[in-house]
Amino acid sequence: MLLSAVRVIERERLLSIRRAKITAVSHYLPERRVTNKDLEKIVDTSDEWIVERTGIRERHVAAKGQATSDLAAAATKRLLEQYRVDPAEIDLIIVATVTPDMFFPSTACLVQTKIGAKRAWGFDLSGACSGFVYALATATQFIASGVHKKVLVIGADVMTSIIDFKDRATCVLFGDGAGAVLVEPAEDGERGIIDFILRSDGGGGQFLYMPAGGSLNPASTETIEKKMHYVHQEGSQVFKYAVRRMADLAAHLVERNGLKSEDIAIVVPHQANLRIIKAMQERLGVPDSKVMVNIDSYGNTTAATIPLGLRDAIAQGRVKKGDLVLILTVGAGYTTGGILMRWAY
Ligand SMILES: CC(C)(COP(=O)(O)OP(=O)(O)OC[C@H]1O[C@@H](n2cnc3c(N)ncnc32)[C@H](O)[C@@H]1OP(=O)(O)O)[C@@H](O)C(=O)NCCC(=O)NCCS
Repeated sequence: MLLSAVRVIERERLLSIRRAKITAVSHYLPERRVTNKDLEKIVDTSDEWIVERTGIRERHVAAKGQATSDLAAAATKRLLEQYRVDPAEIDLIIVATVTPDMFFPSTACLVQTKIGAKRAWGFDLSGACSGFVYALATATQFIASGVHKKVLVIGADVMTSIIDFKDRATCVLFGDGAGAVLVEPAEDGERGIIDFILRSDGGGGQFLYMPAGGSLNPASTETIEKKMHYVHQEGSQVFKYAVRRMADLAAHLVERNGLKSEDIAIVVPHQANLRIIKAMQERLGVPDSKVMVNIDSYGNTTAATIPLGLRDAIAQGRVKKGDLVLILTVGAGYTTGGILMRWAY
């Protein structure tokens, strides 16, 4: 009892050093939309199966030659214009992605030059579907330490570049997109980002991965013939893990901050499967009005789902200054993460 009280105080002390807050959110989705009916023409599937098993109705797909840095830069340029931020003020760019334009240079470097953020440094972060949450937590550390004042956190993926459109079990699930947020120091007395939980469980790596293209299986005729450059997944294993972990994460974050589920204004979960979201919702006991769902329109955009969810929540007037917002994710790795924040604008 005493030990847990000490731990809570210690966490409070660490988190209260200097708080970070999100001050801007924007997004970009490629123009082309692919509906379930379109997919019926290329694989043995049906709109009914996809909607019932996943909640997805359509997804956006990048044009030929449109890379992750293009989507990321488009989302960021929109943010800079909309919120009147000078790109020269940006200190750091973190791009969460599993579909970088290439191994190197980093997508962050490509974005930096595309948006003209001359002073910024940047790096890519590989956390799969948890990438954005990992990146946002990382950004808060640069703010907390006082090293930086303006950090761009971008979640962007062109999942269709690593999907086998002959495999009905994976090709119906994913879409392309990008979301960007700006992280800045909170004012005195402002709460901003309150708490986070981040975990990795590498034992789950065998259930969702892309076998080739890295140092283990460099690209060769054989890897291409064996389709090793595509997403491989044991869907039901990932599903079971995600259902359990996302619900646990939500409950844990709410409880350890002395909150009740009714205190949360909106939950923005990773959008991998509507049934995973519903299981978390049931455990937390929150109504539909408090859960952001847009998987029907975008599918699973991997690192982009959370910023796209935040953006839609703002556009739909579902989040306002002072609201408690909970973001949650589970992804390949396995990786998991949740962040609790008080919305700052
Ligand atoms: C992929 C997923 C939707 C599959 O749903 P499921 O209910 O687990 O379905 P299963 O994999 O057990 O397959 C059931 C049947 O549907 C079939 N099926 C799979 N994809 C299909 C499709 N697109 N259309 C029609 N049938 C399909 C399977 O072949 C299987 O047929 P069988 O029983 O004759 O073998 C689900 O497992 C899932 O969402 N997993 C998590 C994926 C995820 O979140 N990944 C990203 C992590 S961030």
